[in-house]
Amino acid sequence: MAQWVRLCSVAEAPAVGHVQEAEVDGVAICLANVNGELSALDNWCPHRLGPLGQGWIEGDAVICPWHSWAFNMKTGQAEYPVHEHVDVFPLKVEGDNLLVDIE
Ligand code: FES
Repeated sequence: MAQWVRLCSVAEAPAVGHVQEAEVDGVAICLANVNGELSALDNWCPHRLGPLGQGWIEGDAVICPWHSWAFNMKTGQAEYPVHEHVDVFPLKVEGDNLLVDIE
């Protein structure tokens, strides 16, 4: 069952090509804007728990700031040759607020 909670205001979301960290109800989230589309991933890289929200965007992936693993922002899948993935959280806009489903 979906559990929609307020992540931030739409105005606080990252600009195109930027990524930032956020936390809601104890869940750390990497929030990124790829080509004008927002995506939310689990913030912790499965390699050594690097903070993805402190990384950067290349193409449609966020790059971990510690050892440069790349994760697709839509699927959470790491790019070849890494066979790992992170959770992707659904997002929606309601009024001025950006909501995330952390269920
Ligand atoms: S902690 Fe993310 S690539 Fe190593």
